[in-house]
Amino acid sequence: MTTSTGPFIAAIDQGTTSSRCIVFDRDGRIVAVDQKEHEQIFPKPGWVEHDATEIWTNVQEVVAGAIAKAEITAADVKAVGITNQRETTVLWDRHTGEPVHNALVWQDTRTDALCKELGRNVGQDRFRRETGLPLASYFAGPKARWLLDNVEGLRERAAAGDILFGTMDSWVIWNLTGGPQGGVHVTDVTNASRTMLMNLHNLKWDEGIAKSMEVPLDILPEIKSSAEVYGHVKDGVLAGVPVASALGDQQAALFGQTCFAEGEAKSTYGTGTFMLMNTGDKVINSYSGLLTTVGYKIGDQKPVYALEGSIAVTGSLVQWMRDQMGLIKSAAEIETLASSVEDNGGAYFVPAFSGLFAPYWRSDARGVIAGLTRYVTKAHIARAVLEATAWQTREITDAMTKDSGVELAALKVDGGMTSNNLLMQTLSDFLDAPVVRPMVAETTCLGAAYAAGLAVGFWPDTDALRANWRRAAEWTPRMPAEQRDREYKSWLKAVERSMGWVD
Ligand code: G3P
Repeated sequence: MTTSTGPFIAAIDQGTTSSRCIVFDRDGRIVAVDQKEHEQIFPKPGWVEHDATEIWTNVQEVVAGAIAKAEITAADVKAVGITNQRETTVLWDRHTGEPVHNALVWQDTRTDALCKELGRNVGQDRFRRETGLPLASYFAGPKARWLLDNVEGLRERAAAGDILFGTMDSWVIWNLTGGPQGGVHVTDVTNASRTMLMNLHNLKWDEGIAKSMEVPLDILPEIKSSAEVYGHVKDGVLAGVPVASALGDQQAALFGQTCFAEGEAKSTYGTGTFMLMNTGDKVINSYSGLLTTVGYKIGDQKPVYALEGSIAVTGSLVQWMRDQMGLIKSAAEIETLASSVEDNGGAYFVPAFSGLFAPYWRSDARGVIAGLTRYVTKAHIARAVLEATAWQTREITDAMTKDSGVELAALKVDGGMTSNNLLMQTLSDFLDAPVVRPMVAETTCLGAAYAAGLAVGFWPDTDALRANWRRAAEWTPRMPAEQRDREYKSWLKAVERSMGWVD
C-alpha cells in the first residue's frame, strides 16, 4: 500500500535483460516496482536475439503488477512514459501484430560483414557526418537490412505495406495503443538517432542513407519528440492513460539524473555501460571514438544533443560469470569474491564479447583474459571482471575530455552495478575523480517518468525536476597515481590483444 498520495506517473523500462514498470509520485519517489526477465537467445557465436512477443507479454504483466502493488487505478495515473534498450530491432506484420523473426539485439554482431561492405561502397564518413555514428553492427539500420535480406518473402511483404519496423519503444507503444486495432507507429528522436537512418541535423529519416542501407522508408515509424502525448493506452489496467514519453534508456538516465546543463554527464551501469554528456544545442563531432546522439527533445523545444561513450559488456560479464561459468551463484556474490583478494593477481579481462565499442569500434575483437599465471584464482578473475568495467569507463572519460575539453570534476552514476561498493571505489580510483550516486538509482525509469510528466503538466519545468535530485553516496580516489598509471598500461596492452581475432 502506498503512503504517497496521488496522482502518479508510471514508467515502463523495456531493458536488455528484463522489463519493468515503476510508479513514481510527484517528488520522484518510487511507489511500486514490478519486473520480469526475458529469455536471452544465442543461436550462434556473436548472435543475440529476443522474442518480442514474450517481451510484450512481460510488459503487460509488469504494468499490471506495479499498479496492483501501488494499490491504485488508471484514474490515479496521469501519464505513462516509455524507455527501452536501444537499437534492438523488430519487424512485424501490421495486420496480425506477429513479429516476422526474433528481435535482433543491440549486442548482436551478425551485420559486421554488411557494415564493412557499406563502408567500402558508401564510405564511413558519410554515415558519421549525417547520423553521428560509426558504421558498426551495434545500430538498428543494418539489423533491419539483415532481416529484409534473410527472412523469406519479407521484402515483398514490406513493399505491399504489410510490415512495420521498430526499436523496442515503437513496438511497446504500438501494442499499448491498440496494436492491429489502431496502434500508433511512432518513435522518438533519441531512439531514431540510434538507427543510423536519421539525419542528426534535421531529425528526419535520411532518404539517401536509407536507400544505401536498402531499408524502405515506408516501414519506418514517425519520428516524434521525447515528451508529448503519442496516444492513449487501449486496454488493461492503464486503459485511457496518455502515453506521453519515449527515450532510449541511456538518454532517459541522462534526463533522470537531471543533466540538463551543457557539460553535465552521467554513466549508467547495466548490461552494458553508457556515459552521456549533454552538449546543449551543439552537434559535436567526436574525433576520439565517441558517438554523437540526441540527448532529448521536450515537445516543440529545440533538441539537446549529447556525446556518448558506449561499453557493450559490463553487467553482462557478471551474468556470464554466473550463468555460463558458474563461478558465482548470484550477481551480488562477485563483490564478496573479488574482495577476498587484495588485487587482480596480474590478470586483466577484456570482455569484447560483441567486439569493442567506444572508443575503438572494432567488431573483430573478442574477449581475452591476459596475464594468467598459476597464481591466479577465481577471486582474482572476479576482481579483473570488476576492474574491466572501471578501466573501460576510464577510456571513455579520457575520450570525453579530449572531445569536449572539459576535465571530469565528478561522475554521476546509476544502474544496478552501482550497489557494488568495491566497483564504485575502483571506479573512483581509476578515474582519479569522485563518483556520486543519487538517492533514486532507478534513473532510467525516472527519466521516462519525468519526460511524460512534463508532457502532461504534472511537473511544470526542468527546475522542478532538479529539486528532486539528492545525493545518496560518494566515493573518492585512494589509489596512488603511480599504481594507477602502471595498471592502466597493462589494461591497454590486454585490450590490444583482444583485437583482430575475427577476420
Ligand atoms: O544501447 C544499448 C542500451 O540501450 C542497453 O541498455 O541498460 O538494457 O543494458 P541496458
